[in-house]
Amino acid sequence: MADQYVQTLDGEQPPGLDSLRWDELPEGPVLVLLDQRRLPAEEAELVCTDVPALVEAIRTLAVRGAPLLGIAGAYGVALAAARGYDVAEAASLLEAARPTAVNLGYGVRRAAGAYETAAGRGADTEQAAAAVLAEARQLHREDAEASKRMAWHGLALLDELLPGGSHRVLTHCNTGRLVSGGEGTAFAVALAAHRAGRLRRLWVDETRPLLQGARLTAYEAARNGMAYTLLTDNAAGSLFAAGEVDAVLVGADRIAVDGSVANKVGSYPLAVLARYHHVPFIVVAPTTTVDPATPDGASIEVEQRPGQEVTELPAPEMVTGVTALPEPRSSEAASGAPGAPVAPVGTQAYNPAFDVTPPELVTAIVTEEGAVSPVTGAGIAELCSRSRQV
Ligand code: MRU
Repeated sequence: MADQYVQTLDGEQPPGLDSLRWDELPEGPVLVLLDQRRLPAEEAELVCTDVPALVEAIRTLAVRGAPLLGIAGAYGVALAAARGYDVAEAASLLEAARPTAVNLGYGVRRAAGAYETAAGRGADTEQAAAAVLAEARQLHREDAEASKRMAWHGLALLDELLPGGSHRVLTHCNTGRLVSGGEGTAFAVALAAHRAGRLRRLWVDETRPLLQGARLTAYEAARNGMAYTLLTDNAAGSLFAAGEVDAVLVGADRIAVDGSVANKVGSYPLAVLARYHHVPFIVVAPTTTVDPATPDGASIEVEQRPGQEVTELPAPEMVTGVTALPEPRSSEAASGAPGAPVAPVGTQAYNPAFDVTPPELVTAIVTEEGAVSPVTGAGIAELCSRSRQV
């Protein structure tokens, strides 16, 4: 069975989708991001020459998604070290950029730890900076590898739960190449099913308010030639009622020790719907998304975002590409660009970026080390201990 999956997972990639890359320019090292705020209208690069620029890019979602935030955070520390900034200060700025995705802190701390270890061994500034960059690159490679293994385990689980072999999968937010060093988490499983000829349809939730599903997942699905259909988030109920969903696949921003899952707001209602309709609700995330310091769902800090994201539609160029933008464009301009108002001036909005799904509503959590089902703290701890042994 392994060979069957390995063969399908190593297929040709569509070219030109690197979510981020390290570059050495004559004026110094930089971190180059694919600016996700401008997708699908444009594949534009955002060049970060320093940590404040990267922090702004993280806050405004030019770079986003839990695993990629970890990688970006690690390269951010490498950028600080290479450019001679205070590494500890850079690390704390980066770690605080967004509060919920635990991978960000994980990547930052790993890179900062590499710097301290090198410095503690008497390395000079240049050698210590090289050690941090090597650590960031290693994390990047590990995430790509984890992505492949999650796809393998996830497809095996889908095939086991849905023996018919023609899956109709609903997904929320964006969990593909744009969030990962590889092909992603939940999306990578759907892509593996597609390559194996077993994905009948990918149902893509638009994911209000920032439309990660419509702008990013639909974009990735189209690039990969998948059969997909976009729906508004509130159409999911009628889709379940019509019997059109065989499984829900989502990612995670943080998994607590008890198996509670924080993911893009709107995931929890899908889990409730899935339970009512007897459909598996599957979370796909690397073990780096499990936070040993978070005992349960109530302890997860959920990021609250500006109400403006709800009271206005995203800026027109984000969605349609109709606005000509001067180059280069600062991250501040991108985040502050006004969209069309959809509520009276002064309207207050409730805008949590994530919600928390309790473990009893999650059919399985799939990691690079395998799947746990039913979801228990002990099962998750066992998977994490496997990954932390290596
Ligand atoms: O606010 P975002 O776009 O960073 O939120 C991303 C998500 O919620 C993803 O579903 C999550 O990071 C899992 S991706 C592996």
